[in-house]
Amino acid sequence: MSKDQLPASLQAAAIAKAVREALSAISAADSLEALKNVRIQHASDKSKLAVANREIANLNAEMKIEAGKALGAAKAAVKEALDQRLITLSIERDEAVLRDEKLDVTMEKKLGLSGARHPLTAVIDRVVDVFVAMGYEVAEGPEVEAEWFNFDALNIPKNHPARSMQDTFFVDNSDSGVVLRTQTSPVQIRAMLTRNLPIYVVSPGKVFRTDELDATHTPVFHQVEGLVVDKGINMAHLKGTLDHFAATMFGPDVKTRLRPSYFPFTEPSAEVDIYFNDQWIEWGGCGMVNPLVLRACGIDDSIYTGFAFGMGIERTLMFRHGITDMRDMVEGDIRFSQMFGVEL
Ligand code: FA5
Ligand code: MG
Repeated sequence: MSKDQLPASLQAAAIAKAVREALSAISAADSLEALKNVRIQHASDKSKLAVANREIANLNAEMKIEAGKALGAAKAAVKEALDQRLITLSIERDEAVLRDEKLDVTMEKKLGLSGARHPLTAVIDRVVDVFVAMGYEVAEGPEVEAEWFNFDALNIPKNHPARSMQDTFFVDNSDSGVVLRTQTSPVQIRAMLTRNLPIYVVSPGKVFRTDELDATHTPVFHQVEGLVVDKGINMAHLKGTLDHFAATMFGPDVKTRLRPSYFPFTEPSAEVDIYFNDQWIEWGGCGMVNPLVLRACGIDDSIYTGFAFGMGIERTLMFRHGITDMRDMVEGDIRFSQMFGVEL
């Protein structure tokens, strides 16, 4: 090809066509990714304009200038269009990200039911807090208990009438020697046999009796046991402790009374009543630890004395919140728990 002749790729019409193609591809690019491909096709070393550019080297000096100008203008137009489109698409992308990934922190979110503590559990925790604050430790015992701990060691031998006061679930049969504990009092024995003196323990837990479900009884319920064994402990300590306990649970105006009673493991014994709904209702039992029980646990009863008590937790919740029917507590309707401000 002669130096005086423009090659086809440098003809004005060819350059204009290449520019048109490039511009229409650029404006058709609808994403940054698409624009990147357009750039490769229309503005890289392999593009029509770049190929044409390389032909300039073969031209004579005068034509070099002309073709160089024309091609320079064409490439500048393509570059300008690419740059503008890049800006537009970048802005669009940023807006889309803001729109699609927006987080509305004020939006209400429906949480699934997540479960919450039952009001009985909450009141047990409160009871424990009151005693821990007075220096007591928490003691535990098994729900499936040896008959010996539940009765014999508490000075309730077989055929003792006190056994029939607490109608008992036996495990397997009535000769198995294993029961569902009818009271938390066996924890007293476990504590005295395993702990060093002095003893200040509180022991909440589940107990079982063959009682019918009614407004004030359920066959599975909770008690909280307290036991103190120390030098010089007397009935006034017991009374003061129970009055403090009652005041923390039911407020300073609560009315309590001790009513003489009988438990084989305490002497003297009393039942603690609370004035609720215009009548006295039993809250629990208590007394001075029977010296026979201390001795059976290897404690010198000429040096040590003690007191013990066992309160009903369901009754505690009833008096605290004016609940008149215990069945509401055990039937598992979450509307009951929600009344206590439990969030579900
Ligand atoms: C006892 O169980 C003795 N262990 C209490 C005790 C402990 C006395 C330490 C002396 C020293 P009682 O059987 O009265 O006592 O039960 C105590 C409390 O448990 C009752 O006052 C009542 O609040 C609660 N209670 C008893 N039976 C039920 C029941 N079926 N449902 C709900 N609460 C009950
Ligand atoms: Mg009783």
